[in-house]
Amino acid sequence: MLSIQRNVALDTLNTMGFSATAEYFTRITEVAQLPLLCEYCKEHELELLLLGGGSNLVLGDSVFGMVAQIDLKGWETTRLDDDRSQLRIAAGENWHAAVDRMLEEGLFGLENLALIPGTVGAAPVQNIGAYGVELKDRLLEVEVYDRTQACFSSLSCSDCHFSYRDSVFKSIEAERYIITAVTFVLQHQFKPVLAYSGLHELTDKADLTARDVFDQVCSIRSSKLPDPKVLGNAGSFFKNPIVSAEQLQQLKQHFPDLVAYPDQGQFKLAAGWMIDRCGWKGKREGQMGVYERQALVLYNAGGGTRAQLEVLMTKIQRSVQQRFGVWLEPEPRFYPAVHTACHLT
Ligand code: EPU
Repeated sequence: MLSIQRNVALDTLNTMGFSATAEYFTRITEVAQLPLLCEYCKEHELELLLLGGGSNLVLGDSVFGMVAQIDLKGWETTRLDDDRSQLRIAAGENWHAAVDRMLEEGLFGLENLALIPGTVGAAPVQNIGAYGVELKDRLLEVEVYDRTQACFSSLSCSDCHFSYRDSVFKSIEAERYIITAVTFVLQHQFKPVLAYSGLHELTDKADLTARDVFDQVCSIRSSKLPDPKVLGNAGSFFKNPIVSAEQLQQLKQHFPDLVAYPDQGQFKLAAGWMIDRCGWKGKREGQMGVYERQALVLYNAGGGTRAQLEVLMTKIQRSVQQRFGVWLEPEPRFYPAVHTACHLT
């Protein structure tokens, strides 16, 4: 059974804290509701927006069509061998609470991804990553409802075409799949990943535990990133742009202290550093601002609008483009899609 409501406020369901109204709204608590949902949307010619924790989303005032909040719950562990277990988590579970519970159950490998807002089902969409670990490094498969074939199915890690902040769910087949569960392979023995500068200091700690890494990640994130419950935001607002070794070398001639990280034969430029150098840190556009402790985060001081956000976003993109010759792409999904004028330089 589907319970469909009309004209539902989404203000508390998007971490940016924008005021928005869904024309149609439903909450999905059982996978059996998904075929019904898709049939309903087809029959009434409604576009479908899937909502997890709403933490990587920029909404317009009116969201036409159907908004479906994925609220599927469940947790299932299967021991594979002495070293590893398989963990299947339903899409609607909270990501941070899931990482916490993994550690309680002695399942290690995702502790570096503590405190990332959102749900488990949203995590593969942008291949969440932080402090030297990406979701794809620990993922076995993603269970989905396939809207094109009208059937339940699963995608292996390689089927998901993961790359930096990207996947088949975001780009190639953005409308096709509804994620219902994610399965990870986790270790029974803790193998720390401490290459990231803020974690490096733990290297010499005696009896280091995964909980220590989890706590340190929480502490770094809390010191740099605003809590969406206090200050509306969508995490990193821009992706770190990827350039060739040659482009990096040219940029370094003009900006010797430009921060860049190697990434599969190319280089990821620290967008936060570039925005900061353009003088945007702490600046405001109406009620939208650039966070004073991390220039990559745009926040809503309260009552901010998507129009103000788009103006701020475009101004930042243009000034980074002018100074560094690099165009910054926003990381969150825009719904309805962003106005094309914003991409013009
Ligand atoms: N920097 C500045 N000024 C700033 C911000 C950053 O000079 O205002 C410099 C920093 O000093 C550092 C470099 O830029 O040298 C990189 O900054 P940081 O370590 O904070 O990481 P980031 O590249 O800005 C990425 C992710 C974060 C993730 C961190 C840690 C993206 C878009 N963002 O940020 O992810 O937590 O690395 O791994 O890849 C998110 O996706 O919401 C998110 C927070």
